[in-house]
Amino acid sequence: MTTQRVFSGVQPTGNLHLGNYLGAIVNFVKLQSSYECIYCVVDLHAITVPMSVWGGPDELRRCTREVTAAFIASGIDPKKNIIFNQSQVAGHAELTWVFNCVARLGWLNRMTQFKEKAGKDRENASVGLYDYPVLMAADILLYRATHVPVGEDQKQHLELARDIAQKFNNDFSESIAANKQPATYFPLPEPVITGPATRVMSLRDGAKKMSKSDASDYSRINLSDDADAIAQKIRKAKTDPEPLPSEEKGLEARPEADNLVGIFAALSGTPKADVLREFGGAQFSGFKSNLVDLAVAKLSPITTEMKRLSQDHAYVDSVLIDGGERANAIAEQTIKDVKDIVGFIRRK
Ligand code: TRP
Repeated sequence: MTTQRVFSGVQPTGNLHLGNYLGAIVNFVKLQSSYECIYCVVDLHAITVPMSVWGGPDELRRCTREVTAAFIASGIDPKKNIIFNQSQVAGHAELTWVFNCVARLGWLNRMTQFKEKAGKDRENASVGLYDYPVLMAADILLYRATHVPVGEDQKQHLELARDIAQKFNNDFSESIAANKQPATYFPLPEPVITGPATRVMSLRDGAKKMSKSDASDYSRINLSDDADAIAQKIRKAKTDPEPLPSEEKGLEARPEADNLVGIFAALSGTPKADVLREFGGAQFSGFKSNLVDLAVAKLSPITTEMKRLSQDHAYVDSVLIDGGERANAIAEQTIKDVKDIVGFIRRK
């Protein structure tokens, strides 16, 4: 039996919000009971955009600690799982180089996120931004992870990781066999489909994703918001004039209602249908009061703990360093194997 291993990464880009929490972190917490999990703060990915965007060295350190604090405060156990920042394990960059020579230009040219992020001024995008998906493949395959919880926007990158794994396994099949490794040396990683409110939308516009870069702070609930701010933002959230429907199909073409019901469902861990069974026919004012109570009850223990941990650099850094050492122990074995498979002479 092969180990089932989960790997996922979160960028240290700051201002974590409800979308990051419900879309990713909640899922990470759930997965720790059934898998060996490795959660990585991907600082190497963070610097693929201009420094004016990632904010410079102090901001990078702050955000790396903030994401780590959010993981721990949300209930990811750093003893049972591995939590670390990517740059501590040299294997990510080393394996990326080998994969750069496996991946084809044509594959990368199809990546839609690069096109979006590079925008019109493609000549001026960093080489790292172009190579971002190859680094992401190396992240996953360095640990020979089998399961990757990712949002919709990262599915294409995960497919690329599968293509790279498969081409490596094929190109080096003879050497893999000669080294007595399994024919699928790199497993083809599977996406882990996330729960109901994976896509949390803006509180001001149900057609837009909740985002840290939205100009209006009222569009999102930050994990740094206190109870008053959470309450105020939910009360001001955009709705429509109709009462809530009693069935899910009544949410079609009502994106704001759908979003609030989805948030309620995700926070309470119940299906949307159950939420509507309870609140169908109610006005938004009453529903919002319940949502405020629920959101404050669920989020404030986390945000309070996050704030406390954010002050405790010594503890947060010790978690990252301990995680880095454990990650490195796994990564080193893969790098040794890959060197032997490719034909690089190495120190024993
Ligand atoms: N690209 C991912 C994102 O922006 C973050 C990431 C980096 C990742 N490496 C990963 C996610 C490996 C899953 C697995 O969301």
